[in-house]
Amino acid sequence: MGARRWLSVACTLGFALAAERAAAQSAKAPHGALAMSEQEKRLDKLSLGGSSGAPPARVTPSTWAATIPADNALTPERVALGRKLFFDPRLSADGTVACATCHDVSRGFTDQRPVAEGIGGKLGRRNAPTVLNAMFFTSQFWDGRAALLEDQAKLPILNPIEMGMPNGDAVIAKIGSDSDYVKMFQAAYSRAPSYDDVGRAIGAFERTLVFLDAPFDRWQDGDSKAMSADAVKGFALFSGKARCVACHPINASSPIGSDNRFHNIGVSARHQDFESLAGKALAELAKGGDSQQVLDRLALETDLSELGRFLVTKRRSDVGSFKTQQLRNVAVTAPYMHDGSMQTLWDVMDHYNKGGEANPYLDGGIEPLALSDEEVDQVVELLFTMTDRRLGDENAREMTRQHDLAATQRPFRDTALAMRKVLPFEQRLQKEK
Ligand code: HEC
Ligand code: HEC
Repeated sequence: MGARRWLSVACTLGFALAAERAAAQSAKAPHGALAMSEQEKRLDKLSLGGSSGAPPARVTPSTWAATIPADNALTPERVALGRKLFFDPRLSADGTVACATCHDVSRGFTDQRPVAEGIGGKLGRRNAPTVLNAMFFTSQFWDGRAALLEDQAKLPILNPIEMGMPNGDAVIAKIGSDSDYVKMFQAAYSRAPSYDDVGRAIGAFERTLVFLDAPFDRWQDGDSKAMSADAVKGFALFSGKARCVACHPINASSPIGSDNRFHNIGVSARHQDFESLAGKALAELAKGGDSQQVLDRLALETDLSELGRFLVTKRRSDVGSFKTQQLRNVAVTAPYMHDGSMQTLWDVMDHYNKGGEANPYLDGGIEPLALSDEEVDQVVELLFTMTDRRLGDENAREMTRQHDLAATQRPFRDTALAMRKVLPFEQRLQKEK
């Protein structure tokens, strides 16, 4: 090939690469999220639940009715407004963060990071859970500090390290001059834009994110081929020897696999001096009053985060307790637990198998399970069948990724503890020696 011709090929190639890189960059939004327009395209392909208010498949009418507040019946206008707000970074102080930054359509409606990153690159203390199926929880957040989706949505917008707006009026001042929004608020709620209606509309949109059509459900419906033999064994363990069902009941009236209660399962106990933290928390709460916004800041920005439900109730029995997280679509929302400290579902199983991390507030339901390696694999296999079919590709990719990662590292595995060859207090004494 002549030098000139070579040069021209190289140039063409170079331009093509540069163009591709630019395209890839434009597909990226700040803080590592996929660009909002790309996310919306993916959302369109997911054929969401209806906005007519009828109960979705596999949800009993009474369970569904219980999730919808009296003043926020589902209508297509409310859902459309909520959707626009959910993807709008103008709701943040510097215009870089939307709900969808941390609850990214392309990442299981979470950010797949240990802890979330808000405006100015600030990191919080907690892992962002998925918003899929969140309407079925009887309280929102890891510590249940918000009751409804409508209340929840108003907090991140005003939290200084998430979206950072000073107050609700500032939000309305910013978007209230947009004539599209004015029309949409009018159509949705027959009144001028208000911050309460921002929360309501986002809640309505989130109620279309019902993702309950998984191989596990088809198997339960009677399709014996929908799950592998190992996953079926995994379900027997889940409901028996592994005792998962005690806190993660999964059935028609508890569709997402959470008892909606709070337990200390010893996730980050080893790093904590719970006694002194609890004392500090009571002092802070007495100083600041316990408005929702004060709680929100303590939970996301300070060491007190690890106290979990205690911050909300001030009950000693709630120290280090967090809400039982749902198991739906869990395969595509790694890393796991309130602090994002576990990278794979094998890590989660190793944690439960050894009886969690000993601490004075550990839930009585957590003790060594004596599961063999094969049994651990079977429960993990079951968890991978709980992903909605619309996220099947992501599920398959995660299965490979997590499997490969677990083949190189199992940081939580402790076979001696799991098999009760050594008891937690004996291990502690040995370490102290
Ligand atoms: C900076 C990242 C970030 C942004 C922006 C953000 N969230 Fe979250 N979200 C989180 C984190 C972290 C949590 C968990 C916090 C906790 O439990 O204390 C959470 C929790 C939630 C939950 C509770 C789910 C559950 O299982 O309890 C819902 C619902 C939710 N967010 C919706 C939203 C909506 C709606 C918006 C926009 C108004 C939003 N989030 C903006 C990070 C973010
Ligand atoms: C005593 C109640 C209890 C039992 C028993 C229990 N869990 Fe959990 N589970 C929880 C709580 C509470 C959390 C959240 C804890 C935290 O983040 O600190 C959780 C979190 C999880 C998570 C992480 C979800 C996420 O999105 O981060 C998975 C996966 C899970 N549990 C699976 C299981 C399996 C499998 C079993 C049986 C081996 C089991 N759990 C037994 C209460 C329980």
